[in-house]
Amino acid sequence: MPYSGVLNRYRSYLEIPVHTATVTLLEGDTPLIPMPRLVEALGGGFELWVKFEGLNPTGSFKDRGMTIAVGEATGRRVKAVICASTGNTAASAAAYAARAGMRCVVLIPQGKVAAGKLAGAIAYGAQVIQVEGSFDDALDLVIKISQKHPIALVNSLNPYRLEGQKTAAFEICDLLGSAPELLCLPVGNAGNITSYWMGFKQYHALKNTGLPQILGVQAAGSAPLVLGHPVDHPETVATAIRIGRPARGEQALQAAEESGGKIIAVSDDEILAMQRQLASEGVWVEPASAAGLAGLAAEARAGRKVPEGWRVVAICTGHGLKDPDIIARSMPSPTVLPPEFGALEEAIIRN
Ligand code: F0G
Repeated sequence: MPYSGVLNRYRSYLEIPVHTATVTLLEGDTPLIPMPRLVEALGGGFELWVKFEGLNPTGSFKDRGMTIAVGEATGRRVKAVICASTGNTAASAAAYAARAGMRCVVLIPQGKVAAGKLAGAIAYGAQVIQVEGSFDDALDLVIKISQKHPIALVNSLNPYRLEGQKTAAFEICDLLGSAPELLCLPVGNAGNITSYWMGFKQYHALKNTGLPQILGVQAAGSAPLVLGHPVDHPETVATAIRIGRPARGEQALQAAEESGGKIIAVSDDEILAMQRQLASEGVWVEPASAAGLAGLAAEARAGRKVPEGWRVVAICTGHGLKDPDIIARSMPSPTVLPPEFGALEEAIIRN
């Protein structure tokens, strides 16, 4: 049977209402890409795959949950969806709402959303509203308005988002034959780590696939779950996870603890260094998506190496194309030459 999206593939494992409609762009089914050079750089002795969620239809993992959340809203004949977003949720909500033929409103923190995400939300036809505040301020507002008006909230407070995102854990188990020993991923509003843990637990109960340890990674300037208190003015180059009051924070802490793992923080420099390292092996991800592996590298440097023979899966949540400006800012810009052969030879042969 041709692939027909996460709802059709995993419907019997999802706790969703029967009225949920299929609104799909054929999200999911993302690859596990082996990273042998990165393994060596991290000390060797284990296996490592990147689950490249940037290959979803709108360029991030959000599509897995959005197909279900928008499908559920469609089944209730809701006419509009709304979300607060650091960018990827906005683009995804806009695309799936467009697919369903409904209205979409997205609230984003002014000036803090990467160009590829903002362009996506606009291109798919959403009403984009910039809030003079943080993601957390925007989330407060959309919660209030969705309580007062018949507009479906499609942030990860919506339980169907998590149901959809669980499918990534199922895919990993289906591809590897069982759960890996370690899963690492970035943490922002904390819906994704919560979903993975739900998914792995469910598959283990049904199919005895085992459970991974989970290493959740926040950016140091936006690390409420590591600090143990909200952050009023979160900052990080990884704007996707620039969040000071994660909606699913408690569940994230519980997931990390129950799994025998933890949540740690890494600096912006560590995030950008890992972004470069991944790109040097052919996988270009947006900064936030490099955080999980930056955390694994920080652990290795602190002497906590991955045990011999373990299988590690790193979730790379969004595509590098989402945030082109960060490359212009953090890497040298290309040489400019006159259109002369000698100058070209000088630049690429004699250099
Ligand atoms: N990676 C990327 C690329 C993201 O866009 C996000 C969240 C995360 C990681 C963290 O996932 O919130 O489930 O812990 N982006 C949200 C958004 C907040 O609005 O697009 P989380």
